[in-house]
Amino acid sequence: MSGGGGMDQLDGLTLPPPGDPVRLADFEALALERLPPGSAAYYSGAANDEVTLRDNTAAFDRWRFVPRVGVDIRGRQTGVEVLGHRWRSPFMVAPMALHQLADPEGEVAVARACAARGLVFCLSTVGSATIEEVAETGAACWFQLYFLDDQGRNRELLDRAAAAGYQAIVLTMDAAILGRRERDIRTGFARPPEVRYANIQRGALRRGDTYGDDEFKLSNTWDDLAWVIGHTRLPVIVKGVLHPADAVQALELGAAAVDVSNHGGRQLDRSIAAIDALAAVVDAVAGRAPVLFDSGIRRGTDVLTALALGARGVMLGRPVLWSLAWGGEAGVGRALDLLAAEVELALGLAGLRSPDEASRDLLARVPG
Ligand code: FNR
Ligand code: LAC
Repeated sequence: MSGGGGMDQLDGLTLPPPGDPVRLADFEALALERLPPGSAAYYSGAANDEVTLRDNTAAFDRWRFVPRVGVDIRGRQTGVEVLGHRWRSPFMVAPMALHQLADPEGEVAVARACAARGLVFCLSTVGSATIEEVAETGAACWFQLYFLDDQGRNRELLDRAAAAGYQAIVLTMDAAILGRRERDIRTGFARPPEVRYANIQRGALRRGDTYGDDEFKLSNTWDDLAWVIGHTRLPVIVKGVLHPADAVQALELGAAAVDVSNHGGRQLDRSIAAIDALAAVVDAVAGRAPVLFDSGIRRGTDVLTALALGARGVMLGRPVLWSLAWGGEAGVGRALDLLAAEVELALGLAGLRSPDEASRDLLARVPG
C-alpha cells in the first residue's frame, strides 16, 4: 500500500493515492497480487461452482432504492444498538479463520483497527491469535465457536472468552463439515506451519469435506445450541441461518440473535443468496430478537439494503482479509473507513437520518 496516512478519521471517501483501492471490491485484486496462491484461493474461493458466491453479490444488484427527499440529513448518525451495545457504524467484522495468512499481525491488527473505530471484532475458533491477545487490543470482541467434540474444551473456550471480556458468543451452525472448495484443491492449499491455530489443539483445515480432524464435532444439532446457552452467561448468536423455521427454533431455545448467512458461499453451493433469505427470517423473528446479516456485503448500499430488509447490523467478511493482505492494520482501517463513509453517504442520499429509519418502502425489486 502507498500509505495509510490521514485515514484514521471517518474520511474514507477522500481522494486516495493513485492506484489505491476506491471501493471494497478493489482490495481483492490487490490482495491476490500479494498472497501466495493457496492463501488467495482459500480466502476468495467458495464451494463447488461458486454459484452462491457470485449470487451473494448479484442478488444485491436486483434491489433498487426509492429514496426520499425533503429530509434534513445534516447531523445524521450511523450508529445502531445491538444486544445492549452501541455500534458506531451498522457493521462488524465477521469471524474468519487464520488472519495470519494475510499478515503476521493477523487478528490483532484487525482488532486494533476495529478498536480505533468503535467496531466489534469477532474472533474465530480457528483464528491464528489467542482469545486473550485479541482482547488486549481493547476492541469490543465476540467469540465464534465451532462446537468441539470434547465438552470440556468447549467449556474452556466459553470461559476464556467470558473471562477476557468478550461480549457475545457466535455459534456457527452451518459448517460442522466443510463445503468442497475446489480452488483449494487446485492450489493444494495447506496451512503453512508458521501460522497456527491459536485456540485449539489439533484442528486441521484440510482439502475436501471436513476439517480432517475429530476435534470438531462433525454435526451441529439444536442440543449443542442448548448446551452452549446453558454454559455461558454471554448472549449467544446463531450464525448460518437461512430458513425462517431455523431462526424461530434458535430463538425458542434461547438464542439472543440470529445471523442470516450462507458462509459466503463456502458451504452448500446453490444455497439461496443470503440477502434473498433475509426478509423471511426477519418476518418469522417478528421483532423478538435482532437479526444480523452477512454474505456479500461490499458496499454501503449493500448495508443499507440489509437494514431496509430488517437486519439490525451486518458482518463484513472477505474485504477485511483482502485489506489486511494489502496493507496490514492501516489497510484494514482504510477498508473500514471506506465502508463507514459509504454507509453515511447512502443514508443521506436515501433521505434517512439514522439506520433505524430504514424500512422496506426504501426498496424496489427489479426482475433478473
Ligand atoms: C469464513 N467464514 C467463517 N465463519 C465462521 O463462522 N467461522 C470461521 O472460522 C470462518 N472462516 C472463514 C474463513 C474465510 C477465509 C472466509 C472467506 C469466511 C465465513 C464468514 O464469517 C462470513 O460468513 C463470510 O465471509 C461472508 O461472506 P463474504 O461477505 O465474505 O463474501
Ligand atoms: C471456512 C471455515 C473455517 O469457511 O469456516 O473456511
